[in-house]
Amino acid sequence: MYKSLEYFLGHPQSSRNIMFTLLPAVSLVLALCSISVSATPLGRSTCTPNAQGAAVSIVSSADGTLKWGDANPTPTVGDVLSALSFDGDSPNFHVAQSGQFPTSFVINDVNNHALFVDSSTAGSLTFNTTSVDFDQGFQLFDITCQSCGSDTTPGQSAGSSCTVSPLGPFVNACVRIVKPDVSGLPLIVGSCEGSELQLFDIVF
Ligand SMILES: *[C@@H]1O[C@H](CO)[C@@H](O)[C@H](O)[C@H]1NC(C)=O
Repeated sequence: MYKSLEYFLGHPQSSRNIMFTLLPAVSLVLALCSISVSATPLGRSTCTPNAQGAAVSIVSSADGTLKWGDANPTPTVGDVLSALSFDGDSPNFHVAQSGQFPTSFVINDVNNHALFVDSSTAGSLTFNTTSVDFDQGFQLFDITCQSCGSDTTPGQSAGSSCTVSPLGPFVNACVRIVKPDVSGLPLIVGSCEGSELQLFDIVF
């Protein structure tokens, strides 16, 4: 009787002892789990590019021979922007902070600063003058990159693997090329999918 009482009282005691013995191991496992969670791609840090007032090309990260451009040699209001051939030719845009908070960008034709890249035409990017669209955010873009640089030597990047997201009424919108290897197709605005076709390098 005494023995079995000791057994019943002693048993919880010893399992509690086991718990205390395991506790450091359990917390080590939990700590390792939280480290591996923060090392997943979702936790990867991002940056905001700074073109330092220099002209840039906006080059596809999926196909470095395609850049944002206007097929019209004299860009004008209403032109639709496309993915055009890029072979290291002169930069054709200015990408500047808008001065609005949170940080957003305006994107202008390099020669004609009155032309703003505009997302008000559904699904595409056009050149427009600054207008009521500016207040509605159609000419504001969020640009988030996986790495950023400050070397303005031609060919270096202010930002690499960047998503370009029109603000305005859009939620989770990203600019993308239609496909690699084909120049002349319009740039498209659609929902962000994490696709490489939606990544661009901001090249000096
Ligand atoms: C230019 O902006 C106006 C609004 O100010 C808008 O109605 C028009 O559709 C825009 N045009 C283009 C080509 O983006």
